[in-house]
Amino acid sequence: MATIIDGKVAAQSVIETVTRAAAALESGVGVKPGLAVVIVGNDPASHAYVNSKSKMAKQCGFNSVQHSLPEETTQEELEKLVSELNADPAIHGILVQLPLPKHLKSEPVIQSIAPEKDVDGLNVVNAGKLATGDLASGLISCTPAGALILINKIHGADLSGLNAVVIGRSNLFGKPMAMLLLSSNATVTMAHSRSKDLPGICRQADILVAAVGRPHMVRAGWVKPGATVVDVGINRVPAPEKGEGKTKITGDVAYEECAAVAGAITPVPGGVGPMTIAMLMANTVVAACRTFG
Ligand code: GUN
Repeated sequence: MATIIDGKVAAQSVIETVTRAAAALESGVGVKPGLAVVIVGNDPASHAYVNSKSKMAKQCGFNSVQHSLPEETTQEELEKLVSELNADPAIHGILVQLPLPKHLKSEPVIQSIAPEKDVDGLNVVNAGKLATGDLASGLISCTPAGALILINKIHGADLSGLNAVVIGRSNLFGKPMAMLLLSSNATVTMAHSRSKDLPGICRQADILVAAVGRPHMVRAGWVKPGATVVDVGINRVPAPEKGEGKTKITGDVAYEECAAVAGAITPVPGGVGPMTIAMLMANTVVAACRTFG
């Protein structure tokens, strides 16, 4: 049976470090890290994520600000808010929750966030730094940064000689994950919905990272025996066993059968998810430290 990689324990350790750093920054130089989270519209799942981000920011001792804008917010209004947050010295990190309602274009909004406050690592400046191997001076997307910490727990920091396969090519996850694995010396394949023989590609992986948004798509036959399987999926599915109309969160990996083949595996929930929030806090405290020099 595979080693279960506990993301809650790893995230707690990051949160403790961040909380200590925030307290030291405030008592030492009077800088209280500030995180602004912006959400547009009424999607209940997005509201739940955003609430947990704001709550964790408070717990870490940050100045935590949430802007909940109505569904009918215009592009201009949203970009005006971002520009005010860019200019606000009490705010060190800005996160605009995605996806935005259909009438809004996310790319201009994301690119209008000041790179030094872009705690999602989505601005072209931060994405470009990661792509060119500068892991130190920018901000790195939270979910891949958190997933890498979990991978490092099994393989150490140097992934030389290991084949890594990332399924999914989003700007938020797949691309930065591939860049991080490459910077750690892994041999990286990016697979996606148009790839031929996805199971065959995945069976080559010593490290298999799934971010496809399809429940239980990765089956045991896709997993090389002994591989590390990292499940980034957060899919809400019906859970009749919990009662009529109830739902639960499940991953992109068919957990039980893959755990029987893998060497190590992240569960959903309790794997990569808690790391995303922890790394958001870490990025915010780093951004706050940099304002001090
Ligand atoms: N929606 C789902 N995950 C994320 C995330 O990490 N950042 C943002 N901005 N939106 C998301």
